[in-house]
Amino acid sequence: MARSIPDELIDEIRSANDIVDVISERIDVKRAGRRYKARCPFHREKTPSFSIDPDKQLYYCFGCGAGGNVFTFLTEYDKIGFLDAVRELAERAGIVIPDGENARDEHEDPVYRVNAFATACFAANLKGAQGAPARAYIERRGLTGETVEAFRIGYAPPGWNGLLNAARAKGIGDELLEEAGLVTRKDEGSRLYDRFRNRLVFPLLAAGDRIVGFGARALGDDPAKYLNSPETRVYRKGRYVYGLAQARPEMRVTREAILVEGYMDVVSLFQAGFTNVVASSGTALTPEQARVIARYAKTVFVAYDGDDAGIAAAARAAETLVQTGLKVRVVALPEGADPDSYVKQHGPDALTERLAEGLDFIDFAVRSEAPQSPEDREAVARGLIETIAGVGEPIRADLMLEKLSDAMSIGRGALQRAYEDAVRQRAERRGRRERRRSGERDDAREPVLSAAAEAEKGLLAIALDGGTKAQRVCESVTAEDFVDPLARSIAELALARTRAGASLDAASLVDELENEDAADLLAEIAAMEISGEDGERLCDDYIRAFRRTKLQQEIGDAERAIRSAEMAGDEDALISSMALRQELARRLAELSAGGMSATGASTRRRDETHG
Ligand code: UTP
Ligand code: MN
Repeated sequence: MARSIPDELIDEIRSANDIVDVISERIDVKRAGRRYKARCPFHREKTPSFSIDPDKQLYYCFGCGAGGNVFTFLTEYDKIGFLDAVRELAERAGIVIPDGENARDEHEDPVYRVNAFATACFAANLKGAQGAPARAYIERRGLTGETVEAFRIGYAPPGWNGLLNAARAKGIGDELLEEAGLVTRKDEGSRLYDRFRNRLVFPLLAAGDRIVGFGARALGDDPAKYLNSPETRVYRKGRYVYGLAQARPEMRVTREAILVEGYMDVVSLFQAGFTNVVASSGTALTPEQARVIARYAKTVFVAYDGDDAGIAAAARAAETLVQTGLKVRVVALPEGADPDSYVKQHGPDALTERLAEGLDFIDFAVRSEAPQSPEDREAVARGLIETIAGVGEPIRADLMLEKLSDAMSIGRGALQRAYEDAVRQRAERRGRRERRRSGERDDAREPVLSAAAEAEKGLLAIALDGGTKAQRVCESVTAEDFVDPLARSIAELALARTRAGASLDAASLVDELENEDAADLLAEIAAMEISGEDGERLCDDYIRAFRRTKLQQEIGDAERAIRSAEMAGDEDALISSMALRQELARRLAELSAGGMSATGASTRRRDETHG
C-alpha cells in the first residue's frame, strides 16, 4: 500500500480498533454464535449475509463477496482513502501518528511513488500563484473545490521542466521519471522535458490510493486536446477504468454504473450526484474493462456523446458489455451534447430521465442501424445474433431474440435456429482453443478450472489456519503455480510467512495485498471451514487437484513445444518434447488413479446464508 506510516504502527492501530465495535458504530450488528451478523451495507438485501469474525478481525459478505479488515471496511463504508482510514482509527484509539513518518513499503513499485509526488506537485501548482489560469478554467467549467479535491485534479504549467526540476531537487532519478512517463525526450540521447505542459491534470487513481498515470487536458491551443500517460509497469490502458476508485462504493450498492467517454464527463456527473460514473480512458472500451465493471455492477448505462462518432462508439461499447454478461441501457443525448454539457444545461433530473429512457441492447441496435434492403437486414441480424450468442444467459438471450424478431420482421423460428448454430459454433471455437491450451483431448475444461480454483482457495484456507497441515501445504505447492492471479498474490504472502515461521494474521495480510479484490478473496477464504478430521482428507484432495492442474498445464506446454519442433523440423527437440509429454501424461494418470475425489473436493462454510 502507498503509505507514509510504518507497518508496526499500522498493526498497532488495527489491533486497537476492534472490528465488531467499529462496524457496530455504523450499522446494526447482531451476535450469532461465535460471529456477528448484519445486513450487508454494500449491497441491497433483506436477510443478513454479512458476517464479522471477531477472532480473525475480518468481515465477509456471503451475498456480494465484499470483505476485508477494519481499514477496508472504513475505506468502503465511509468512502475514504486508506491513509484517512488509518488516521481516523488512530484518533479513535488515541494513538498519535508522529509527523514526518516516511517509512515505505519496499515491495511497492517506485513508479507509484513518483506518481504520488507528481500528483502533489500538480495540486500545489493549481493552488499557487502560477495556478490562476487553471483556476479560471476550472471555474468556467463549474467544478467545485470539493470535486477538484476528490479527483485530485492539478495543473501542469507551461514551461519545459517544472516537474523535472522539482523531482531532481527531491533526489528522484531521471530514469524513474522517464519510466513513469512523466518526462520524455525527442530522440534517444537528447534532453528530457516534462510530458504534461499547460494542461489540467487528471490523476488516474487506482485501488489502495495509488496513482497509475495521468490524463491531461490542454488549456492552450495544443492540437492534442487530451494527452495520456504512456503505458508503464503500473498502467495498462485496456485494463484501467477511470472513476472506479470513486464510483466503486456506489456501484456496489446500486449494482449500476454509468459509462461515459471523457474525464470531464466523469468529474462533472460525479459532482452532479451521479456517483457511480466511470469512463474507459485512452481506448475504446475493452473486454477487460467490461469485466472490471462487471465485478461491481450488473447494469451499465452507456451515456456517450450525442454525435455520430459517439453513437458508433456506444454501439461497440454496448456489444462488449453485453458479451460480458452485463445488461445495458444506451442513453441518447441530443446531437452536439455530451453528459457534462447536458447535465450543466438541463440539470441532474433531466439526465436521470434520459437514463431511465435508455434503450436496451437490441432496441438500440436495430434503431441505430435502421437497415433497409433484405441483404442489409440479414447482415445486421447475423451480427446481432453473434452478440446474443455471447450473452450466456438463456432467458435474457431469448427475450433479445423475441425483440429482434419483432423489430426486423424476421421469423422467430429462423432466428432461433441461427442463434443455436451461433452458440454451438462459439462452444466449438472455445473448446478448440482450450484443448489447445490445456493439452487435453476431450475432458471438459470448465469443471477442471473450477476444481483448480476451489483447490487453490482450500489450500490457502489450510495455510491460513496454521499448524502442521499448513506446513504440508507449504512443502507441496509454490505460489507461482497458482492459476488465479488473486489467489497467487495471497499465496505469495501467506506461503512466505509460513515458511519463515511467522504468524499468519489474516487481518494484517489484508493490508499487504495489492488490490481490494484480493482482500475480498482473502476474507472469503478466511471464512471457509476446514474441519478437524475432514481437514486431512481435504488437504490431500486439494494438493492432488492442484498438482493435476499444474500437470495439465505442463502437458499443454509440451504439446506446444512438439508443434513448434515439428514446424522447425528439429528432430532432437521433437523427441525430447514427446518424451516429456509422455512422462507428464503418465504422472497425470498416476495422480488420477490415486484418488478420484480431487475434483469433487469442497468445503463447507460456516453459517452460510444468501441475501
Ligand atoms: P472528448 O473530445 O469528447 O472530450 O473526448 P471531453 O471529455 O468532452 O472534453 P472537454 O469537455 O472538451 O474537456 C473524450 C475522451 O477521449 C479521450 C479522453 O479520454 C477524453 O476524455 N481523448 C480525447 C484523448 O485521449 N485525446 C484527445 O485528443 C481527445
Ligand atoms: Mn465535453
